[in-house]
Amino acid sequence: MKTTTEWWNETKSNPDKLVTWLKRQYVGELAAVNLLSELLIRYGHDMTGEQWDNIYKVMHQEALHGKWIKQLLDARGIKPEKDANATRRYWSEVLPSVNNLESAASAAHNAEYMRLFRIREIANDEAAPEDIRKIFAAILPHEEWHEEVFKSMKGQADLSEAHNKGLSALNLVLV
Ligand SMILES: [Fe+2]
Ligand SMILES: [Fe+2]
Repeated sequence: MKTTTEWWNETKSNPDKLVTWLKRQYVGELAAVNLLSELLIRYGHDMTGEQWDNIYKVMHQEALHGKWIKQLLDARGIKPEKDANATRRYWSEVLPSVNNLESAASAAHNAEYMRLFRIREIANDEAAPEDIRKIFAAILPHEEWHEEVFKSMKGQADLSEAHNKGLSALNLVLV
């Protein structure tokens, strides 16, 4: 199991790992758009107008993050993966436990909370490559807001068990 700092130091100092990870960020941001679209399709019926608008806005921001990562890849002369798959190891563990709006919001909240550890690590790392740090510093306030949105929607639902299985699948601990 790796801590966030260990993971980031290892990733940024290994050019091949860094490129693979950047390509996965591109897929990950756009895969989030899929997941949020599915959230609106499956549970939009149970949302207030404000909740629906918030999820729609989160979806747009994830798409924007995908575009920023694409611009970063372009500037570095990296092509996105060909025929990439949106299936994520984390979500394969978590999605089977989602069966209503609250559990979906809890799952999304856990994922946003988890992502914030990495985003903060990168945004605050003065030794990080400048192009990457700049984008993650711009992403950070969006993701902090996403975490709040899902926290306010999850009610009593608690998907921490599925979340921990997802973390093991990623071989990650949150410290
Ligand atoms: Fe994002
Ligand atoms: Fe997000």
